[in-house]
Amino acid sequence: MTDKLIIFDTTLRDGEQSPGASMTRDEKLRIARQLERLKVDVIEAGFAASSNGDFEAVQSIANAIKDSTVCSLSRANDRDISRAAEALKGAANARIHTFIATSALHMEKKLRMTPDQVLEQAIQSVRFARNLVADVEFSPEDGYRSDMDFLCRVLEAVITEGATTINVPDTVGYAVPELYGQFIKTLRERVPNSDKAIWSVHCHNDLGMAVANSLAGVKIGGARQVECTINGLGERAGNCSLEEIVMAVKTRRDYFGLDVGIDTKHILAASRMVSQTTGFVVQPNKAVVGANAFAHASGIHQDGMLKARDTYEIMRAEDVGWSASKMVLGKLSGRNAFKQRLQDLGVQLESEVEINTAFALFKELADRKAEIFDEDILALVSDESVTPEKEQYGFVSLSQHSETGERPHASIVFTVEGKEVKGTSDGNGPVDASLKAIETHVKSGAEMVLYSVNAISGSTESQGEVTVRLQNSGRVVNGTGADPDIVVASAKAYLSALNKLQSKADRVAAQG
Ligand code: KIV
Ligand code: ZN
Repeated sequence: MTDKLIIFDTTLRDGEQSPGASMTRDEKLRIARQLERLKVDVIEAGFAASSNGDFEAVQSIANAIKDSTVCSLSRANDRDISRAAEALKGAANARIHTFIATSALHMEKKLRMTPDQVLEQAIQSVRFARNLVADVEFSPEDGYRSDMDFLCRVLEAVITEGATTINVPDTVGYAVPELYGQFIKTLRERVPNSDKAIWSVHCHNDLGMAVANSLAGVKIGGARQVECTINGLGERAGNCSLEEIVMAVKTRRDYFGLDVGIDTKHILAASRMVSQTTGFVVQPNKAVVGANAFAHASGIHQDGMLKARDTYEIMRAEDVGWSASKMVLGKLSGRNAFKQRLQDLGVQLESEVEINTAFALFKELADRKAEIFDEDILALVSDESVTPEKEQYGFVSLSQHSETGERPHASIVFTVEGKEVKGTSDGNGPVDASLKAIETHVKSGAEMVLYSVNAISGSTESQGEVTVRLQNSGRVVNGTGADPDIVVASAKAYLSALNKLQSKADRVAAQG
């Protein structure tokens, strides 16, 4: 048994399955680069066979990432596995993760297969995958609710076929810590060749116990890989959160006795990048990355902290990246300093034109805002006006008028495939008027299911970051936009969501 705990991040696969969290290829690539900076051991980049878009995302991440293993999910069939292998061709280290459900409920009702058929398909799939890559992970979906005897047969067989990692999902978040830990322990004791594979835990958070269950799987069960996501992003109540698992194992090394290779000072930047990209806001009291996670407001606590930090602090805020939240650039900063900061933040713009556009936006912002923080820079480069040529719609300018007792009115100029158009409308408020002005041209028919505004760096001087979630014909997308003027930020977020709806529509059309 090794004393290293492998961190397997599935933000870009299981996290992205969360309704409204879908990301573009470029967004995924940017997050993958941040995960590499974090020194995540394995990045699950997507589900290559699920769509052309996902295939391309896995492929570009495989080509770009050198230090982390890049993994693609695949169902247990030859077509999915071949697509995964194809997408992973350029990877320095590639893993195929194949899965099939093993619980009686899933086999009978979802797969309509007998246990023997499932066993045979698991064997064939792992054999097929091992002929394509050396690193193969197998997951029995709904593993925790599966019959122990049957599960032992399946897992023994797939290890014999060469599965190098066995992952035991609590797919529906039903487990409780002690029982899940015991479950993993029993499997490892009963499967005769269990020592030939690394055991992994994958817990969903439906009962709020994903992190606790994963830790029990490690401590009681002896698992040496944890599957997790940044901010606990994921379907329903989400997955096990990377930042919580990592900081628990690091802070309580006395208890767990394990090493994790994560460079924790990049945690906060990763959390913000995922939150800004998906529009899934982090709650203020979220452990490690919430705005209040290290804020000591009560007088008693502050007094204790001033006398000795460890009276109330079990981790140092700077160890997870909080100290990075300082003024980094200003009005007088030059293009080189800006470019360097982008590099330090793990942002790679593809061309000099994109860097120039981002720098121009930075200068514009610095004219309006004295202090520019890392969060501002990240918001600025996630703004689609940096890569306008790739987008259907682009923001140009906005004017609006609102006065007590009068109906607000807005006039907006934006581009449609590079051509400027102007829309005007009134509305219930300035934001409503601006978005209606956009719709006079676009006529998307989309329904807004979420609108939220957040101050990026806390004060009224900071940029407002707006998230807009749109739904159309069963598709849900998030758009984000940032600007010191929240009406402008709202218009940018709305256009960004329309772009995503558009590119999703293209993706579906391309697949026929
Ligand atoms: O939760 C789950 O069962 C999964 C598997 C595909 C690993 O995400
Ligand atoms: Zn899952």
